[in-house]
Amino acid sequence: MALIQWRDSYFVGVARFDKEHRRLVELINDMFIIVRDKGDSTALNTVVQALIEYTEYHFSSEEEAMEEANYPDLVEHKQHHADLKKKVTTFLEQITAGGEEVRTELYHFLREWLINHIVKEDKKYTEYLKPS
Ligand SMILES: [Fe+2]
Repeated sequence: MALIQWRDSYFVGVARFDKEHRRLVELINDMFIIVRDKGDSTALNTVVQALIEYTEYHFSSEEEAMEEANYPDLVEHKQHHADLKKKVTTFLEQITAGGEEVRTELYHFLREWLINHIVKEDKKYTEYLKPS
């Protein structure tokens, strides 16, 4: 396990969303440090809560922008966001139930999901959204 290093290939070309994606990476990295150092559940909950709140904010802002731009794959994109939220809820239930290794799994899952989503899904909206 390691920290996520931001790469140029992660930029979607919409300044506002690039900034938000970098913030999400920062939060996932904060989570990594707690998982790696076996931090207590209060510390983990705090960062996971911050991550959930920021993700909600970010998904809403993306969805709003795509809607305004009449992005053709909006429904599909919204579904990806909804699936992620559902998956995270399941993880959190497992963490509450006390699984130590679930923390590591969640970290890996979020890391994979975010990078994949940015590169494969978010980049598709770039041509529809005016660079800001
Ligand atoms: Fe997205």
